[in-house]
Amino acid sequence: MEAATTKCRCGLEAELEKVLAAHEGKKEDLIEVLYWVQKNYGYVPKEVQVVISEKMKVPLSTVYDVITFYHLFSLKPKGKYEISVCNGTACHLRGAPFILKSFEKELGIKPQDTTGDNMFSLGLIRCLGACAVAPNISINSEPHGRMEPELVTKIVKALKEKSKLADCIE
Ligand code: FES
Repeated sequence: MEAATTKCRCGLEAELEKVLAAHEGKKEDLIEVLYWVQKNYGYVPKEVQVVISEKMKVPLSTVYDVITFYHLFSLKPKGKYEISVCNGTACHLRGAPFILKSFEKELGIKPQDTTGDNMFSLGLIRCLGACAVAPNISINSEPHGRMEPELVTKIVKALKEKSKLADCIE
């Protein structure tokens, strides 16, 4: 269930050059290129945004707008625990916004952000396909149904303890 915090960048620059060469000047391919970066880097670093902007002839502000518009992309490396709150209709109607607020308060971050200690990332996801047990969250892609805002503090505490324990064993 542990997520890699920052992926190794070995050879990634050369790979990125190849991807950009294949999409050079094709503004319509921006999301495809950003998806590749997110998947391989784990986020979209500022310096990569600049290179994409130059090579694809897209204003840097547009690159930034696209990254911040889609929940799929992030500006910072993901935390050890990626917590995502389902933003689908069933979950929304059954209180997902209150769960999100509780995580925001508990972690001190907003969606698409990571805590300063790189322990937690917060995000929103579309329907997990488990509407019957809405509202749902996922922690490192593992779904958890019938969530309640009151459980948020316990979950965060449990994950911190789990992480401490893992550090002791290593
Ligand atoms: S809307 Fe959240 S699981 Fe379907």
